[in-house]
Amino acid sequence: MKFLATLIGIVLAGNLLAQNWQLQSPQKNLALEVRLSPDGRPSYQLQFKGKPVITSGALGLQTQDDGGFDQNLAFVSADNSSVNNSWEPVWGEEKSIRNQYNELALRFMQKDGKKLQILLRFRLFDHGLGFRYEFPGQPNLQYFILKDEMTSFGLAGDHTAWWIPGDYDTNEYFYSVNRLSEVDAIAKGNATEISTRKVWSRKGVQTPLMMKTAEGLYINIHEAALVDYPAMQLEIDGTSLRSHLVPDAVGNKAYLKAPFHTPWRVVNVSDKATEILASRVILNLNEPNKIANPSFIRPQKMVGVWWEMHVGKSTWDYAGTQNASTTGVEAKPSGKHGATTANVKRYIDFAAQHGIEGVLVEGWNVGWEDWFGKWKEEVFDFVTPYPDFDVKELQRYAASKHVKIIMHHETSGSAINYERQMDTAFRFMKNHGYDAVKTGYVGRIVPRGEWHDGQWMINHYNRQIQKAASYNIMVDAHEPVRPTGLHRTWPNWLASEAARGNEFNAWSVGNPPAHETILPFTRLMGGPMDYTPGIFEIKMSSYDPNKKEQVHTTLAKQLALYVTMYSPLQMAADLPENYEKHMDAFEFIKQVAVDWDSTAYLEAEPGAYLSIARKAKGKGDWFIGAITNENGRTAKLTLDFLPAGKTYEAVIYQDGKDAHWEKNPKSYTISRQKVTSKSTLSVALAPGGGAAIHIR
Ligand code: NOJ
Ligand code: CA
Repeated sequence: MKFLATLIGIVLAGNLLAQNWQLQSPQKNLALEVRLSPDGRPSYQLQFKGKPVITSGALGLQTQDDGGFDQNLAFVSADNSSVNNSWEPVWGEEKSIRNQYNELALRFMQKDGKKLQILLRFRLFDHGLGFRYEFPGQPNLQYFILKDEMTSFGLAGDHTAWWIPGDYDTNEYFYSVNRLSEVDAIAKGNATEISTRKVWSRKGVQTPLMMKTAEGLYINIHEAALVDYPAMQLEIDGTSLRSHLVPDAVGNKAYLKAPFHTPWRVVNVSDKATEILASRVILNLNEPNKIANPSFIRPQKMVGVWWEMHVGKSTWDYAGTQNASTTGVEAKPSGKHGATTANVKRYIDFAAQHGIEGVLVEGWNVGWEDWFGKWKEEVFDFVTPYPDFDVKELQRYAASKHVKIIMHHETSGSAINYERQMDTAFRFMKNHGYDAVKTGYVGRIVPRGEWHDGQWMINHYNRQIQKAASYNIMVDAHEPVRPTGLHRTWPNWLASEAARGNEFNAWSVGNPPAHETILPFTRLMGGPMDYTPGIFEIKMSSYDPNKKEQVHTTLAKQLALYVTMYSPLQMAADLPENYEKHMDAFEFIKQVAVDWDSTAYLEAEPGAYLSIARKAKGKGDWFIGAITNENGRTAKLTLDFLPAGKTYEAVIYQDGKDAHWEKNPKSYTISRQKVTSKSTLSVALAPGGGAAIHIR
C-alpha cells in the first residue's frame, strides 16, 4: 500500500512554524491540506483539480469542563492508509458500490489542563472529503458535555446556493436560490420572507446544502452517519459556513462518553452536476449493514388510504370533526372516515389487481380527534382501532389477496409516548400481519423543549429503527431529521420524508415546478425520500370547485418521479378511481422497478432539469425519468448505457404537445419505438413537465 500523504512540516524550535500534512484522492482529483498553526489551531484546505474549494476551514470542538480541542493543541502522531474495495447494499441505486479513498488520521493533545487527546480522521475520495472527530478512551475523559463544534467551511467565493432555512424542527420548505451573501441577509432578516411557515430558529441554513461556483464547480455539504449527536446546520458568515449544532432543551449541544466519534462532515465536489448525484461518499462513510438476516426487507410499492384525507374527501378521525376536541369514538361516525373496513378492502383489491404489495392505512386508530397542535404527551396508543376498522378481518382479507397492510404510527411529536408504547405496538403489528410502519412526527416534540433535530431525537430515531429491526419491521419515517446514509447500516429504514413532499400540493401554495429538480441535489444526498409521487388528478378543484391548490407538475412528470426521486418504497399516491381513468399511464407505475442493478445519470442541473436511467435489479429492463422546472426543454437521452447489439422497445410516456403544468397538466401521449445502445432520444418536456420511459 502506497501512502500518499506526507508530513512535510514538523515542529521546529518552540512551535514557531505551522505544521502541515497533505493528502490526495486516489485519482488526484482532490487535494487536502491540514495545518496546525503555531498556537495549536487545526485547520484545513481543499482543492478540486487545482481549484480552491475550501480556502480555510476551522477544525475542533469545545467541551464544558474539559477545555477546548480547537486551539492550543500539540501534534502527537499521523497515520495514513488507503482503501479500495466494493460492497453490495441490501437494496439501492446499484448492486455494487466502490469504496476508494486515502485516509489521514492525526492525533493531537491539549498542551495544557488535562492534556486530553483528540483524533481527526480525514478520508479523501475522488468526489468528496469526509472528516470526523474522535475521542479515544482515556483515563481523564469519560462523560462530557459538548458546548460547540468549531468546524467551518471557508469557501472560495460568493457561490449560488439552493437552501432552506435553519429550522431545528422541520425541513418541509421549498428551496430558495441565492448567492451566499444574500442568504446571510435573508436568514438573519424576517422569517416570513423565506417561508410561509414559522421558523423557530433562524441561525442559518440546513444541509445538504447544494452550491455552484461562478466557474461551474458543484459543491455539496452534508454529514454522514448521524448517531448520538445533534444535526449540523450551517451559519453563514460572508462566504464562510460554520457548523451550528441543534441544541437541546437547556441549550447544550451533546452529552458524550469517550470513546466517541462525531458524524462525518462531508464535502462532495465535482465539475459535473451528474457526479454529485452519483457520489457514494456518504454511504461509504456509514457502517456496513448490521442486520444479520435482511430477508424480511423488501423494496416495494404501496397505495394507501392517505391522499383522500389530504384532498379532503375523507377524514383521519372517526367522527369527521378533525381537530375539534370531541370524544371521537363515542361520537357518531361522520360517514367521511377514510379507514373503514370496506374502504381499506377497496384499496387492497386495487393493489392485488395491479401487483402492488403494500396498502398504507392512516386514521385507523383512536386519537385523531385532537392529535394536532396541542403539544400533548399522550395522544395515540398505536393499538386501539376505531370501531369501523376490523383489524382481524382486514388481516384475513389482505392475506387472501397476497397484499400487506402498512401500519401507521403518527406520534404527533410525542416521541416519549411512542417509546413507551413501541414494544406493544410492534407486537400488535406482528400479531396482525404487518411488517412495515410509516411513522410521523408532526408538531412539537415531547419531551418538551427538545427539537426534531437535536441529540435526544437523533437517538430516538436510531433506537426506533433498531427496535423495528429486532421485530423484522421496515420503516418509512415522516418528519424525522434528514437522512445521513444510515440506511446502509439499517436497511430496514426504507425511506424517510424529511422534506417538503407532494402532500403540500394538496393543501398549501405547494411545491414550485423546480422543487423536484432540486431535491436530488439536497435532501436525497442523505438517502431515499418518500415523496409520494403519482398524482394524476392534478387540480384540487376536481374535489371542490372552490379549491385553487394544485400539483405543480404535469401528469407525465409525476411518472418520471418514480425514477428521478430515488426510493425503495414508492407510493402510487393517488386514489384508485383517479388511476382507473388513466390506466394506460398507470401502466408505467405498475411496471417501474424499485430496486436497481445500476444507475446512469444522463444530464442534470440543480433547479433546472435532470434525466436518470436505471436498470431493474436482476432484470434486463431499464427505466428513464426526465424532468424539468417551469421551463420546457428537450431532453437529449443518449442510450449508450444499454448493452451493445441488442434491440429494445422503448415505451415513452411524455407530455402532450399542448401540456403545461398549470394550463394543461393532464395532456400526455404514449408512444413506442425500437432503440439500441446507439440511439439518442429527443424528448420534449412541457413547462413543469417530464417523461418516463420503459425500455424492455
Ligand atoms: C404528515 C405526513 O407527512 C403525512 O404523510 C401524514 O398523512 C400526516 N402527517 C398525518 O400523519
Ligand atoms: Ca410531512
